[in-house]
Amino acid sequence: VDTLRLAVIPGDGIGQEVTVEALKVLTAVLGGGGRVATTEYDLGARLYHRTGETLPDSVLEELRGHDAILLGAVGDPSVPSGVLERGLLLKLRFALDHHVNLRPSKLHPGVPSPLGDPGEIDFVVVREGTEGPYVGNGGALRVGTPQEIATEVSVNTAFGVERVVRDAFARAAARPRRKLTLVHKHNVLVHAGHLWRRTVEAVGAEFPDVAVDYLHVDAATIFLVTDPARFDVIVTDNLFGDILTDLAAAVTGGIGLAASGNVNPDRTTPSMFEPVHGSAPDIAGQQIADPTAAVLSVSLLLAHLGRDDLAARVEAAVAADLARRATGEVGTRSTSAVGDALAAAVG
Ligand code: NAD
Ligand code: IPM
Ligand code: MN
Repeated sequence: VDTLRLAVIPGDGIGQEVTVEALKVLTAVLGGGGRVATTEYDLGARLYHRTGETLPDSVLEELRGHDAILLGAVGDPSVPSGVLERGLLLKLRFALDHHVNLRPSKLHPGVPSPLGDPGEIDFVVVREGTEGPYVGNGGALRVGTPQEIATEVSVNTAFGVERVVRDAFARAAARPRRKLTLVHKHNVLVHAGHLWRRTVEAVGAEFPDVAVDYLHVDAATIFLVTDPARFDVIVTDNLFGDILTDLAAAVTGGIGLAASGNVNPDRTTPSMFEPVHGSAPDIAGQQIADPTAAVLSVSLLLAHLGRDDLAARVEAAVAADLARRATGEVGTRSTSAVGDALAAAVG
């Protein structure tokens, strides 16, 4: 594409602050504002309070006409928990069929890890994005009584599991270490667990060069802390992937650095790129949020659109900036100062 048609949803809290910086960097790396046509959508707490809506149908239809979506974060203490998360963010992921939730974790040189010296961490979590306990299949009976019963039924289809497992294998096959780890809990969640296990076995037969490993999710949390360098590609379900990727972020320099892509590999709908972190109400509006995760999400966006050259430039700028933080060459900076520095570096 000559001009990138980009939908921008800054959302709530620090989403507003970090998205501006991500856009600065995107514009700079594309060589000027003429190369990107952005449409901003004011979705989130403000729209909800104004109209009671989270994602109007007309907006969803408009979003389909874009090449990609850049999202900040969703969720606000003034809105009941779940309303925006389900009604906006998850609705987008489901409606746009973002079944591959890509969450890379890399420990950049110089970046302090709480693990001390864990070795080379460079893996990607391929989190299923449209099924599992996220589908909203559940309910509550006798709410508020001592007899209350609440269920959230995890839905796993052969179709849904196979397509994400296949995507994960293809990614593993294209990486130097060619290793795939299935993370689940098939010792307890036997129905879903065995579907995942059988699927990995079957699809794995088509990828003889990829070494396959399995960990129960509880044990996976051990190894993410004691030996994260062992991981290359992790494939897992929606909820396990959510939890593991915050942990993965923590061991690779913090949630302020973790990027993600909600990808529809079939490209029939725009994919959506966003930091792994949330709206961080505890620091919102103070210009102290790290915009790096949002900027690295732009790198994932560029790679998805086939601009690996530009994606690499953004990543290199981030790596250099992180190295300067490590040496003390740069100290504490505002959100916009970090964005300015990264935009200058890629421009
Ligand atoms: P959070 O990620 O917003 O914050 C967790 C902690 O990390 C907070 O202390 C926060 O200050 C810190 N943090 C997060 N991003 C940071 C950054 N860029 N720089 C520096 N520090 C950062 O998670 P939470 O507190 O569990 O959730 C807050 C709200 O965000 C909730 O409404 C939740 O539902 C929502 N949420 C949205 C998304 C999303 O939009 N993708 C993701 C996670 C949580
Ligand atoms: C994330 C978030 C979301 C998720 C919530 C806000 C719906 O935690 O993007 O990691 O659970 O996927
Ligand atoms: Mn999460």
